[in-house]
Amino acid sequence: LSTKEVDLTAVPAGQAIKVMWQGKPVFIRHRTAEEIGEAEATPLSALKDPVARNANLSGSADATDANLTTGASGEAKPEWLILVGVCTHLGCIPLGTTAGENRGEYNGWFCPCHGSHYDLAGRIRKGPAPQNLDVPPYEFITDTVVKIG
Ligand code: FES
Repeated sequence: LSTKEVDLTAVPAGQAIKVMWQGKPVFIRHRTAEEIGEAEATPLSALKDPVARNANLSGSADATDANLTTGASGEAKPEWLILVGVCTHLGCIPLGTTAGENRGEYNGWFCPCHGSHYDLAGRIRKGPAPQNLDVPPYEFITDTVVKIG
């Protein structure tokens, strides 16, 4: 199967889950209003990689928070952040999805292999990873069910 449907009803704000899609982990974080505000307030000038690596948008879209939470419908859903959970350095799986894991200095994800810190929108902020985490193709088919792929 190249697509996967995930029901997010049981994921409260402030928590995240990991699902597998095409053999890769996908992180789905239900962000709180505070987390969204923090991600939206980050200026592009603070980013190491200013490009949204979002399969749902053109390759040159800026790495704004809205562009990282936009699926195939073209409409941003800022409460849901969906990322391919593979570090863009050498491919380890970053920590930060399961409660209690190290989320790094920017409160997103931390790759323990060589110390890359990703923020609340999956953007690389510190460490050797060259690019933001990828956003996979996805589309919400109901308010709470997302189809990945
Ligand atoms: Fe993630 Fe090297 S693989 S920092």
